[in-house]
Amino acid sequence: MTANREKHDPAAEWRAVDEYFTAELLDEDTALAATRTSSARTTAPHIEVAPNQGGLLSLLAQMTGATRVLEFGTLAGYSTLWFARAVGECGRVVSLELEEQNAAVARENLDRARLGDRVDVLVGPAADSAQRLIEDGMEPFDLVFIDADKPNNPVYLAAALSLTRPGAVIVIDNVVRGGAVVDADSDDPRVQGVRQVVRDVSSHPDLDATAIQTVGEKGWDGLLIARRR
Ligand SMILES: C[S@@+](CC[C@H](N)C(=O)[O-])C[C@H]1O[C@@H](n2cnc3c(N)ncnc32)[C@H](O)[C@@H]1O
Repeated sequence: MTANREKHDPAAEWRAVDEYFTAELLDEDTALAATRTSSARTTAPHIEVAPNQGGLLSLLAQMTGATRVLEFGTLAGYSTLWFARAVGECGRVVSLELEEQNAAVARENLDRARLGDRVDVLVGPAADSAQRLIEDGMEPFDLVFIDADKPNNPVYLAAALSLTRPGAVIVIDNVVRGGAVVDADSDDPRVQGVRQVVRDVSSHPDLDATAIQTVGEKGWDGLLIARRR
């Protein structure tokens, strides 16, 4: 660590701190570790949340007593697996994923962890899948995690609001994007997706929210947490 500080390699230091807390505090068993590794077989390897972020999502679900979780963006099912454990035996997780390849990897991981029976991975554009849930009168969710294609964040927030009850929590990942979020003129549609969803959250009469920037093995990013009144 001293050597790292002398060379001032922030990314290495952030990673080392993540690894320290993960080793000390988190119960990342073989099912979670194997799920993270299997992300290599998806269409977007290793863009899942870090272990300590998975732990945070799990704690948020448990602290809010969430038994029904909706997720936008499954990948290999790493965050899904944290949620599936957090909601308990009688809980339910619905995870929306564009790519059949990723959904197949995720289902394999969830089945291996014996959690497949409490998770539905729905394949297709998440906006369409969410619309179908709304039309089907899906029972409201307690917690929503938005972690799919960032330009569609505003669409996913609107769907989340139609699919949740008062008191529900909505978490939006990757809202800092290495600091790019403050660039109002950015031509990156992911940045504009974040900026629009921040405006939507802020102008919604029933949402209390904050955003926290983070550093770690995933670099400099952050998450927005909102709660419906
Ligand atoms: C950041 S990854 C999700 C990571 C996962 N939440 C985790 O932490 O383990 C984003 C996922 O969203 C999916 N995705 C991208 N565009 C999508 C869309 N329009 N509808 C549904 N899923 C989409 C990608 O295929 C990818 O699997």
